[in-house]
Amino acid sequence: MALLVIDDLAKTYDKVTALTGINLSVEAGEFVTLLGPSGSGKTTLLMSLAGFTTPSKGTIRLDGKDITHVDPEDRNFGFVFQGYALFPHLSVANNIAFSLRVRKWEKARIAARVAEMLSLVGLDNLAERKPRELSGGQQQRVAIARALAFGPRILLLDEPLSALDRMLRETMQKELRRLHRETGVTFVYVTHDQEEAIAMSDRIAVFNHGRIIEIGPPRGLYKKPSTRFVAGFLGENNFLSGQRADDDETMVEAFGTRFGSTYVKGRRERPGDSLTVWVRPEDIRIGQATGDEIGFRATVVENSFVGALERILLRTATGEEMVATLRSEVAVAAGQVVDCRIDPSAIGVLPNEESHP
Ligand SMILES: Nc1ncnc2c1ncn2[C@@H]1O[C@H](COP(=O)(O)OP(=O)(O)OP(=O)(O)O)[C@@H](O)[C@H]1O
Ligand SMILES: [Mg+2]
Repeated sequence: MALLVIDDLAKTYDKVTALTGINLSVEAGEFVTLLGPSGSGKTTLLMSLAGFTTPSKGTIRLDGKDITHVDPEDRNFGFVFQGYALFPHLSVANNIAFSLRVRKWEKARIAARVAEMLSLVGLDNLAERKPRELSGGQQQRVAIARALAFGPRILLLDEPLSALDRMLRETMQKELRRLHRETGVTFVYVTHDQEEAIAMSDRIAVFNHGRIIEIGPPRGLYKKPSTRFVAGFLGENNFLSGQRADDDETMVEAFGTRFGSTYVKGRRERPGDSLTVWVRPEDIRIGQATGDEIGFRATVVENSFVGALERILLRTATGEEMVATLRSEVAVAAGQVVDCRIDPSAIGVLPNEESHP
């Protein structure tokens, strides 16, 4: 049985529907990320899990027990929330000890636990500092240590790294992964940063307009999204118009060529019906197609050097534009007509009608 089971959860504020029809199971020890644009309901779900927000509908179960209306302090969840600041007048050690004192742990046990947590987050030398004497990253480590100190089964994190600069954010992402591994605590993590979600999560639940659009491991969602929203939200993508080519449901026509695609079966289009075809910039290559590859010609509109990669804007025979990222040693110039090739397994085909509202 899953550790945490959310069943048909909804939250409405006056006229705003913040969440609707949320179903999600989280296994013990999992790192699950709630990812979605601003206002999509991520914080509302996390607050409902923490017990700070009362859902309008649905249930939350922990170990099979209904906790939907249990008080926050009786859930024993740890949280690291945005703006949920450290106690400024307490030292690092006392910030970490706080929740243990509230729980009436014995002195010696508190001291041992604080030392253990300080070492876990690499702050052994800073125990007596006040929060204002710490860098942003150090403060965030203290917040995480404080949230983990009493041994929660679940740690809820709401954009804990969003205030940090890029380098520090990447370091802290690795730190959090390590803490997750070493403690075995279940993490439910909120971010609107898709790269962060991909790098850190066992599974990602992609939110939009208060719903979970798709949920799965990062690789699966990136490579085989089932919806246009996820195909466009997770990583960069090119969307092109196509149509079903003939009686064979796998045959598609797009960017001036015809090819077989086994990507989405069971579509309901008839021959001639329009489809959306997507292909990621990194899956477009320059050169003659070989074997099963799909070949087509395109004109280079512009190219720009972006470090390890060259970013090329191509115009296809149908007049649509697509972005390709190539390794920099491939030399192409604006105005040049080039042969392009794509592995058919890298092409996504979606119905034009969204399968979700
Ligand atoms: N207390 C509230 N009263 C009324 N509406 C609210 C309240 N809290 C959130 N909302 C609304 O509910 C929706 C979901 O908000 P939520 O904070 O869950 O989004 P989010 O996905 O966390 O966004 P962000 O990435 O910007 O933090 C938004 O439309 C928001 O305006
Ligand atoms: Mg939020």
